[in-house]
Parts: sequence; structure tokens; C-alpha cells
Amino acid sequence: MGGTATPELAGAVTAAGALGTVASVLLSAEELAEELDQLRKKVAGPIGVNFLMPFLERDCVEAAASRARVVEFFFGTPDRSLVELVHRGGALACWQVGSREHAVAAVEAGCDFIIAQGIEAGGHVAARIGLFPLLDEILDAVDVPVVAAGGIGSGRLMAAALTAGAAAVRIGTRFAAAHEADSHPQYVQRLIDARAQDTVMTKAFHVMWPDTPHRVLRSSVDAATAFQGDVTGELVLRNHRMPLPRWAVPNPTRLTTGRIEAMPMYAGESVSAVKSSQPAAAIVRELATEAERHLRLWAARFGGQD
Ligand SMILES: Cc1cc2nc3c(=O)[nH]c(=O)nc-3n(C[C@H](O)[C@H](O)[C@H](O)COP(=O)(O)O)c2cc1C
Repeated sequence: MGGTATPELAGAVTAAGALGTVASVLLSAEELAEELDQLRKKVAGPIGVNFLMPFLERDCVEAAASRARVVEFFFGTPDRSLVELVHRGGALACWQVGSREHAVAAVEAGCDFIIAQGIEAGGHVAARIGLFPLLDEILDAVDVPVVAAGGIGSGRLMAAALTAGAAAVRIGTRFAAAHEADSHPQYVQRLIDARAQDTVMTKAFHVMWPDTPHRVLRSSVDAATAFQGDVTGELVLRNHRMPLPRWAVPNPTRLTTGRIEAMPMYAGESVSAVKSSQPAAAIVRELATEAERHLRLWAARFGGQD
């Protein structure tokens, strides 16, 4: 989840019993290795590291593969040499995909599991269709576990995805509003205030990563359109500072300054389920408890019938 996915957030998600994922953006291999080593001292469970293909550095993948349980990639065509690099380091390899073709290519490249991301998702989106039709196509086409992503913000929808055959769900937007996320307070407040219909798919925030669809709050596109200058503010991400050109890709972190409302506020249709800022552990617990309740209800209603 870009700069939002701090080691603190990933660690809290993992400590709560899920799989927390660290973003590798803007980090050198040494910085990533140091972050992961520190995290492993604090948290015993599995950690994932995410790589966005347009920004990929192979030495960072190598550093992640020997320290994380899962190394995953997003965008681009699945690449066997990267998967082999992950396996050599001892981690599981995963690709987040938006089509059946890329799901099959990921499995052929040797991925241990895949993430099917539907068009409802927040952030950059590879899919052109909704999660459920995509999941259906992919489950028919591959024999590795498939994780469902996009638009899932509640235990009810988590149970629906599991019932449809997903092995797990990936949650993004709910965690962008978590206490441990590096999200600017204005961004968090807008997530709390927004509903699914307040999100839009656009290619508007294109500087640094052109021509790639992403789902954001419509208000951030409107504010950037109205903004007259060339630079909306300054991004502060971990130890890095950089000016943010208008229409730049990074979302506003806690210490980012400037016209926050005109920076991309990534949000999935799951944003309806963001009702407050919560600790990550509370989000994990709520989703798991609610999903289990719905699965039990479902079993009571339909169980025992063939
Ligand atoms: C703020 C934010 C940043 C994201 N950044 C990344 C990223 O760096 N890498 C990635 O693979 N996916 C990223 N995503 C997409 C997620 O992996 C996931 O597909 C999506 O959040 C699922 O939909 P949801 O937001 O409705 O839960 C991001 C999503 C959000 C909301």
C-alpha cells in the first residue's frame, strides 16, 4: 500500500493473526533489509513485502526473499526469474493480477499463490472487471490458492469471498485508516466520510507512473483539477523528503505538507466500511469475527444439503 504500509502497520496486522505486508517503495536494499530485520525482532509471525513492478529493484527483492515469508509483485507480466529469486531466498512468491491471463502466467512463472484484484479495489487497479466474475474465471483456470482483493471492507463480504472459493482476502482501504498507517489525518477523515459512490477510476494522478488506472476519492481529482500551481506540497516518507508535483502518485503521509486535498486519496469501494480510525488489530478482529459469524449463519442455513 505504497508509503501507507509502514512496518508498524504490517507488524500490527501480523501480530493480530493476519499477514501484514510492507511496501518497498523508495527504499534501498539496505534500508529494506534493516526494516525487515527490526520487524522480525518485534513480531514472530509471517510478513510479506510488496513490489510494484515499475519501481522494482532486484537487489531489494533479494533482500526481502531471505527475510520475509511472502514476496509479492503487482503489475507487469509475471516473470519467472523474479519468482526463482524469491524461492532461492526461501520465501513464497505471489503476483497480484487483474485478469485470468495474468493469473495463468503467474502460475506458469512458479507463483505459490495469486491475488485476484477486482475493479472495486483502491489504489492502482489492473482489472477491468468486478472481483466476483474475475475470481470465478481465475478459480476455474488455476490450481494454486487464490486471494480475493477489491471492495472487501466487511466481515460479510469477506465471508462471501471465502464462500465463493477464495483462500483468503486482501484488505487495503480499511488499513489505510488504521492508527498505524502512515496516512495524513485529512486523508483518514475523508475515508471515514466517504462511501463507495464517492470513489472514481481515473488515470489523473499520472506523474511518476503514467497511464495506469487507479481508484481514488473523487474529491481529490476535483481538488487537483482546481489547483493552479505546479507543486502541491512536500512528501515525507520514512527518511525521504521530496516535492510533490501536481498529479503525482504518492498519497499524503502523516508528515506530508501542502494542499493535502489535491493529492491522491486512494480508496476502494470498500471505503463505505471505514467508519472510524481504529488500531489494525481491531480491524483484523472485527473482520474475522464477523466473517465467522456469517459463515456459521450460512452453514446453519445451507449446511447438510448437497
Ligand atoms: C492506499 C493504497 C495504496 C495501495 N498501494 C499498493 C501497492 O503499493 N502495491 C500493491 O500491490 N497494491 C496496492 N494497493 C492495492 C491493494 O493491494 C489491494 O488490491 C486493494 O487495496 C484491495 O481493495 P480495497 O482497497 O477495496 O481493500 C493499494 C491500495 C490502497 C488503498
